Amino acid sequence: TKQKLWGGRFTGKTDPLMHEFNQSLRYDKRMHAADIAGSIAYAKGLARVGILTQDEQQKIVNGLTAVGKEWEQGTFEAQPDDEDIHTANERRLTELIGPLGGKLHTGRSRNDQVATDMRLWLLGEVRTVEKGLKDLIRVMVERADKEQDILMPGYTHLQRGQPIRWSHLLLSHAFSFRADLERLQQLIPRISVLPLGSGALAGNPFAVDREFLAKELGFDSVAENSMYGVSDRDFIAEFMMWASLAMTHVSRMAEDLIIYSTAEFGFITLSDAYSTGSSIMPQKKNPDSLELLRGKSGRVFGNMSGFLMTYKGLPSTYNKDLQEDKEPLFDVVDTVAASFQIAEGVIATMEVHGDKMFKALTMDVLATDLADYLVRKGIPFRETHHVSGRAVALAEARQCQLNELTLQDFRSLHEKFDEDVLAVFDFEASVERRQSIGGPSRKMLERQISVLRSAIAN
Ligand code: ARG
Repeated sequence: TKQKLWGGRFTGKTDPLMHEFNQSLRYDKRMHAADIAGSIAYAKGLARVGILTQDEQQKIVNGLTAVGKEWEQGTFEAQPDDEDIHTANERRLTELIGPLGGKLHTGRSRNDQVATDMRLWLLGEVRTVEKGLKDLIRVMVERADKEQDILMPGYTHLQRGQPIRWSHLLLSHAFSFRADLERLQQLIPRISVLPLGSGALAGNPFAVDREFLAKELGFDSVAENSMYGVSDRDFIAEFMMWASLAMTHVSRMAEDLIIYSTAEFGFITLSDAYSTGSSIMPQKKNPDSLELLRGKSGRVFGNMSGFLMTYKGLPSTYNKDLQEDKEPLFDVVDTVAASFQIAEGVIATMEVHGDKMFKALTMDVLATDLADYLVRKGIPFRETHHVSGRAVALAEARQCQLNELTLQDFRSLHEKFDEDVLAVFDFEASVERRQSIGGPSRKMLERQISVLRSAIAN
């Protein structure tokens, strides 16, 4: 009769529901490659200290490689007693190579094993997520580069504020993503800390060379304290915090684009590929892609905060609660990777209506420029702000645009107004006056584009 891996001290049977409750294979099988890689490195480590002969090491490595192939080819057959990916792989290894398979776990615990697998798996995923983020930034930068001519109102409080280039708005979101890219890269050294060789909690009694293990598996460093090694899941919390902030940026960008895609704004039209219709209203074309991006951010925050609640009350080292780190992390990785890809697709394919954006520019968004005009003639800004405000009020009373006021009107507000005041009422000129770093002028857009291009290079 089959025995559980840990069955020696047990006489009673596991309750069937408990058996199912305890099982994590259905989701932790995602880490099969990391688990095999960790075991291969560990077998080599054991051979180096004489626990395995060269021949035994070779047989175990060959066996593990064969198990790994079964996973890749989809032929691995899980058994009812496979509790998790670690027990499943060891069970299969022993079927393939016999009792020798039982030597692999010498000095090792699933506690250092699972922590190692998670870190190794996440390091691989970070590379994929990083690429997705760079691709998203790239599409935004290319689009911004091509559409520099398009002028639009920039908003604060969702009220028209000052003229900008559309590209300037798009790149404002790209700069948030660039910060996310930096933050993601900064996580890597903290994920890349090797727990293997920490044992259950008190370290490895067979003098296994942990620096060798780290090198074999491509880790930057080894956990310097075995209890920390098996206990720590900060790298999971931190990745989910990172993802929460990155999804905040995705969500805020989506919100801008949802607003701009309404008929009332009409600034953009999403491509059919990223929209859906209504089951009752035939005319509808809904921005579901953007709404899902906004909505999925909530799911990511939930995974993060749920895991932190599990994590915060745990006593030192391994507790089974930690098995609850996997589903949230996997879901966050999948959600964030898909979100970057969808956002990239939406931005690459949407239509931007430069004419509608330009039409939304009313002369009042040049009221700041009107105040600045008098500043250039030596009047203090606090005063010119009032004068310009009175000009806005006058135009409003007359139901005309600001530039339709006469020179006499302007003169009645301040004697420093001259004929050249009409030159203020030019949106392009307003944007081009903003030549300081960070402004929407062409020159400063070029600068932004080159900063972003170098951030995503290589
Ligand atoms: N499946 C477990 C997990 O995901 C592996 C570690 C089990 N260790 C233990 N002592 N029960 O956390």
